[in-house]
Amino acid sequence: MSSEQLSIKPSVLYFGTPVVLIVTRNPDATANITPISSAWALDDRMVLGLGAVGQGITNLTRERECTLNLPSADLWHKVERIARTTGLNPVPAVKIAAGYVHSPDKFALGGFSTAASETVRTPRIAECTVQLEARLLASYPSGNASADEGPSYLIVEAEVQHVHAHRDMVIPGTDYIDTDRWNPLFYVFRHYFGNAHDLGKNFRAE
Ligand SMILES: Cc1cc2nc3c(=O)[nH]c(=O)nc-3n(C[C@H](O)[C@H](O)[C@H](O)COP(=O)(O)O)c2cc1C
Repeated sequence: MSSEQLSIKPSVLYFGTPVVLIVTRNPDATANITPISSAWALDDRMVLGLGAVGQGITNLTRERECTLNLPSADLWHKVERIARTTGLNPVPAVKIAAGYVHSPDKFALGGFSTAASETVRTPRIAECTVQLEARLLASYPSGNASADEGPSYLIVEAEVQHVHAHRDMVIPGTDYIDTDRWNPLFYVFRHYFGNAHDLGKNFRAE
């Protein structure tokens, strides 16, 4: 195989991260869903990357809590059904230009159902295999927008307070997710991926 390297400028650097559906509370106490893929974990902290203009980030900043719901790969059609929408009304010009339309109820649009949470007022998404209840700890502005426009992105740190998992995803009698059954939905260069194969264990796997 050739090892020659090319210099390239990919439009996105989405090499592959799990899809996370953030649920936040609207001012009228209804719930909004924001699909993201810029999400990763450090111990009980989740770090999220969110565009500065959106209903999810507005709600999260105000309410300081959310649920983070991990869909399995078979839910990708439902995720894509809500993908072109925002909870913002009116839809800001920047999102109209990108093709977004308003949806007041992404649960109905995507065919998702709510489940009550235990430590936050924001509901979870019942269909998602793993659901995390979290509170906002901090956010950090990022991106290249001009000083007048404010940041393009916010890098958000949230603390996970409670974890729910579908019973058939947990090794009986333990707190372990069964990696033989876990089939997360990944977002890879704006394509949905699933069916990840287990290649082997890290030396620290329990
Ligand atoms: C699979 C997927 C991954 C996405 N990843 C992100 C992301 O990591 N960060 C982000 O800000 N937007 C991401 N988006 C776009 C938002 O979902 C989109 O801006 C949406 O309109 C936000 O909804 P809201 O305004 O109701 O919060 C993603 C969309 C999809 C479908």
